[in-house]
Amino acid sequence: MESDIFLAVDNYISGLFAKEDEALQATRRSIADAGFDDMSISANQGSFLQLLARLIRAQRILEIGTFAGYSTIWLARSLAKTGRLITLEFDPMHAAMAKKNIGRAGLADVVDLRVGRGLDLLPVLEKEPAGPFDMIFVDADKPPYAEYYEWALKLSKPGTLLVFDNVVREGKVLDENTTDEKVAGVQRLNSRMAADSRAFSTIITSIGTKYYDGMAIAVVN
Ligand code: DHB
Ligand code: MG
Repeated sequence: MESDIFLAVDNYISGLFAKEDEALQATRRSIADAGFDDMSISANQGSFLQLLARLIRAQRILEIGTFAGYSTIWLARSLAKTGRLITLEFDPMHAAMAKKNIGRAGLADVVDLRVGRGLDLLPVLEKEPAGPFDMIFVDADKPPYAEYYEWALKLSKPGTLLVFDNVVREGKVLDENTTDEKVAGVQRLNSRMAADSRAFSTIITSIGTKYYDGMAIAVVN
């Protein structure tokens, strides 16, 4: 089957370049032990995000949607000694899991985990002001993705890198008559980004342990 080779190649690449250490393995186990579906990114996607963060020498990273902290750990590990990552999580059970996993990874002092509704916490970040961020990774609830995009722009400066997970959804994004609110949410984001002169954007697709999906990537003008 075709999917077997995609899975095998993804595992081949992660076996070479993105081996999960004890902290990342423990994070995956914490998700299984709690009985949650693993919505985390793959190891290869984690190393890709870390590569992007290092490429731009990110010092300030914002993540919207922590879940168990798996991508948080990959991203926080890209930061130099003075760098900081703020991550927002709506679900207190996910946040409790993430707090443990981030602590176990030795990143408690680097990561500022905030619990609440994204659309409530983002105005607080603006007011502080916590930004502008060098990189913003969005991997949260899909229906408000276009609103998260507007907030990401508000918290950006020229050159800020924006990354949105799950914008292809096994190709369901092609269905103009979808009744799936997650699909409709990423469709709104994709159309807005494509038409937006405030940033330069593209989508990269990927297939492997996380099935067929994609990330939208943008650099703010
Ligand atoms: C879903 C969310 C994710 O962040 C993901 O990577 C995969 C699926 C979801 O809500 O369906
Ligand atoms: Mg995701």
